[in-house]
Amino acid sequence: METAGSANVREEPLDGPDRELLEAALQARSRAYAPYSGFAVGAAVRTADGRIFAAGNIENASYPATICAERVAASQAVAAGVRHIVAVAVVAGSPGPCAPCGVCRQFLREFGPQARIIMANLEGRVEIRSLQELLPLSFGPGDLGRPDSVD
Ligand code: THU
Repeated sequence: METAGSANVREEPLDGPDRELLEAALQARSRAYAPYSGFAVGAAVRTADGRIFAAGNIENASYPATICAERVAASQAVAAGVRHIVAVAVVAGSPGPCAPCGVCRQFLREFGPQARIIMANLEGRVEIRSLQELLPLSFGPGDLGRPDSVD
């Protein structure tokens, strides 16, 4: 599928922090528990203090109880007491760069409203967007009259 803003689609390997985050997501993908769909996903989040938390998706025999890789990774950061996510990498064996699902976009919005989202597939196709691009006009703490939850 053609994506808008093809300038953001890179065919060459990333370098620097983006590459490091994507590598962490790839490694975590090998620990995905996806016996039902067979679709293993890896995700890694970078927090404002520079730490990386990574995870694969965790499926369940009761299919809707499945948790996407992005939410497992982000939950690990929050559980560790780190609430500000600055970047997220997602990788899967999808035809194009693997985009976070709608629920994950909303979940990430809570802790990384400005996050950089690095989407990739196993063939090295990468697309980078901001969370605001993926979830415009989002519902957040401000809609409840509360400040953003980021540190
Ligand atoms: N999945 C993720 O882990 N992240 C996404 O953003 C999309 C979907 C998982 C959920 C399920 O285990 C499998 O991929 C197929 O939908």
